[in-house]
Amino acid sequence: MHEDIAEVLVSAADIQKRVKEMGAAISRDYAGKDLLVVGILKGAIIFLADLVREITIPLQLDFMAVSSYGSGTSTSGAVRILKDLEVPVEDKHLLIVEDIIDTGLTLKYLLENLKARQPLSVKACTILDKPERRLVDVHVDYSGFCIPDYFVVGYGLDYAQKYRHLPDICVLKPEVYKRKK
Ligand code: PRP
Ligand code: MN
Ligand code: MG
Repeated sequence: MHEDIAEVLVSAADIQKRVKEMGAAISRDYAGKDLLVVGILKGAIIFLADLVREITIPLQLDFMAVSSYGSGTSTSGAVRILKDLEVPVEDKHLLIVEDIIDTGLTLKYLLENLKARQPLSVKACTILDKPERRLVDVHVDYSGFCIPDYFVVGYGLDYAQKYRHLPDICVLKPEVYKRKK
């Protein structure tokens, strides 16, 4: 195990099992619908890559990158788009794919922004949810695991852009970070 990791919270094997279930549910729910999967860079990429390979219906993929304004110890709530979708969405059912819903501010912004483009529908999917940390009420349609308020990395999640490649979802040793969000 990586020296900065205190413990494995969700193992790669448990993730794989859950992602299969989520892919099956999405395949059922979107059968016959024109599905556009919207991956949110960068955290979602590992989950997205696994999830879409468990979806058995036709789909398209596109990406957005967003960033919270400001830095330091708290999320400001203001979000800006660093990279936008490349395809029109009016004739699509959108599924936002995130790695984690924490305060909910990023997802709230994405839902409002994408709904304003008048797609056929917009739903949200995440591998991790930390309900204790929520600052705004957002509905998550597909959620992999609800977790306590631990600082987690791996499976796409970073601390200071590191640890995204770890295959398990891991708790970082507290001495490694100063909590930023
Ligand atoms: C993280 C995570 C979600 C968001 C969740 O992204 O990947 O996108 O924060 O937090 P919230 O619910 O409090 O808004 P981050 O901004 O760290 O960018 P990254 O995906 O590139 O790591
Ligand atoms: Mn992110
Ligand atoms: Mg991050």
